[in-house]
Amino acid sequence: DQAKQDGLKKAAAKKAAALVEDGMVLGVGTGSTVKFFIDELGKKKAAGLTLKAVVTTSSRSQKQLEGYGFTVSPLSEVDQVDLTVDGADRVDKQLNGIKGGGAALTLEKNVAVNSKKNVWIVDESKVVDHLSGFALPVEVLPISCMQVEKRLADEGLKPEFRLTEDGQRLKTHYGNYILDLKLDRIPVPSGLADYLDHTVGVVEHGLFLNICDQVIIARDNGEIEVRS
Ligand code: A5P
Repeated sequence: DQAKQDGLKKAAAKKAAALVEDGMVLGVGTGSTVKFFIDELGKKKAAGLTLKAVVTTSSRSQKQLEGYGFTVSPLSEVDQVDLTVDGADRVDKQLNGIKGGGAALTLEKNVAVNSKKNVWIVDESKVVDHLSGFALPVEVLPISCMQVEKRLADEGLKPEFRLTEDGQRLKTHYGNYILDLKLDRIPVPSGLADYLDHTVGVVEHGLFLNICDQVIIARDNGEIEVRS
């Protein structure tokens, strides 16, 4: 149930907060698990934590951070991020993942690849042997979205525009659309990532390969597992 799930997310968030040190440039991701991480950061700040800078990947996280008195910088104003803590939608045994359930994948990937260390906080439901069970988000430019949709459909990748509650195409922070690839499983993630990286009109996609350094998993039985 919801309360149990929240308890698991909170436990993972707490463990990640212990990695945050004074003087760091910290990256903070997006999502309901990260929300608990920001609460933990708020507590650490009240206890005297001072960071060199904070960057984040969504306006929702930004508002929450500012509520705790943090000043948030754009990525363009920091050199390198020391540590980024983010959630994930799926993570496999090699610590490769699917992200973008919150449509923030482009900024998330840009922050992640510019971070010395990336830690993901997840509950057990996100952990899989092979990437599957979650549609792969692909951010596309509006101007060529119909052609890209057709091309991906012709490849058998089952793209569907993500819609808002009132049936409009969802627009990302950068004014683009999301095509969710409704794939049952992704047998060769690197092959698909390569293909999408080379498809004109694709801005970014939610396959995060060789990016995560450590995953903190809150198990249903209450144990915390750290994989790296
Ligand atoms: C945002 O685009 C996603 O990559 C999130 O990191 C992901 O959806 C995790 O969110 P939850 O912690 O809410 O599951």
